[in-house]
Amino acid sequence: MSPPANPAPHAAGATPRLRLLQSELPPVQALRAELAAGLVAPQAAIPPKYFYDDLGSRLFAAITALPEYTPTRTEAQIFARHAGDIAGAVGTATTFIDLGAGDCGKAARLFGALRPRQYVAVDISVDFLRTALQCLQREHPDLDILGIGQDFARGLALPGAVGDRRRLFFYPGSSIGNFAPDEAIVFLHRLRACGGADAQLLIGVDLIKDEAVLNAAYDDPLGVTAAFNRNVLRHVNRVLGTDFDVAQWKHVAFYDAAQTRIEMHLEASCDVTVRWPGGVRRFARGERIHTENSYKYRPETFAELLRAAGWNPAHIWLDERAWFALVHCRG
Ligand SMILES: C[S@@+](CC[C@H](N)C(=O)[O-])C[C@H]1O[C@@H](n2cnc3c(N)ncnc32)[C@H](O)[C@@H]1O
Repeated sequence: MSPPANPAPHAAGATPRLRLLQSELPPVQALRAELAAGLVAPQAAIPPKYFYDDLGSRLFAAITALPEYTPTRTEAQIFARHAGDIAGAVGTATTFIDLGAGDCGKAARLFGALRPRQYVAVDISVDFLRTALQCLQREHPDLDILGIGQDFARGLALPGAVGDRRRLFFYPGSSIGNFAPDEAIVFLHRLRACGGADAQLLIGVDLIKDEAVLNAAYDDPLGVTAAFNRNVLRHVNRVLGTDFDVAQWKHVAFYDAAQTRIEMHLEASCDVTVRWPGGVRRFARGERIHTENSYKYRPETFAELLRAAGWNPAHIWLDERAWFALVHCRG
């Protein structure tokens, strides 16, 4: 996530059908206030959206290639195995709105079957999104592509350029798990409200499974997830002006069965004093900064959550080990 720039109606070098709007990002003062409040809280925390600067987005893409990171592989199996059913349920000519699009790869693999009328990619990591969309436009020169740099955790605001017919919200990768269940209901309810009468939702969620499998997915032996977690401190240094030394912080990730969630933290490996313009925080050795939750669900509990948010789950597809679920909902 970068501080907002002036709206860029056409990305340089792209055809006129690619537009990238980035006027919706919060002002840098708001980001600084949010980060400072998290750092001085009794349990220090950094919101997970700060993982995604340009390097963080690349590190996440690397995580999805790890054998231990099951959500991406199992979700891909579902798309491959049930492609025909998914296309039959969703239909064609949608306004395909990809929330947290990342490298846009998952959506692009569905274009052949779903033949969307317009592809709208929303992401907070604007530089990474721009590069991904420029590649996508070359591969799909006739597709109407719109990129939106936006922090949708604060509420999704779709500009007038987004088609208002047959809106399909695409929210894969179990990103919904970063919200606590009550926050997830509020978020999905807002989506429902801006979808219109014929709105649809295609959402992926990681399921409760063996703890060893879950723990390995968030603490891989190559240390890619550790690098992704620690990189958040470099991003915070740039935005808030902190003086974090990443070498002093250790990656910690574990499954909390009572809360059915993975927690990620950064743990101080010595006593550390962190300073930034207008603030200071002392961390004793062993003290942690909470950086992410990733909630896991049972299929029936997740369906209840969707109903509570105003969506009607119409189809649910699982991989062969029931490690991941893809749910298609109507409004
Ligand atoms: C876990 S990755 C998922 C990427 C891709 N959709 C996938 O399933 O592999 C989360 C994506 O959402 C974006 N993101 C995270 N928080 C966001 C927020 N509050 N607003 C907009 N985008 C956000 C990140 O930049 C990243 O690309």
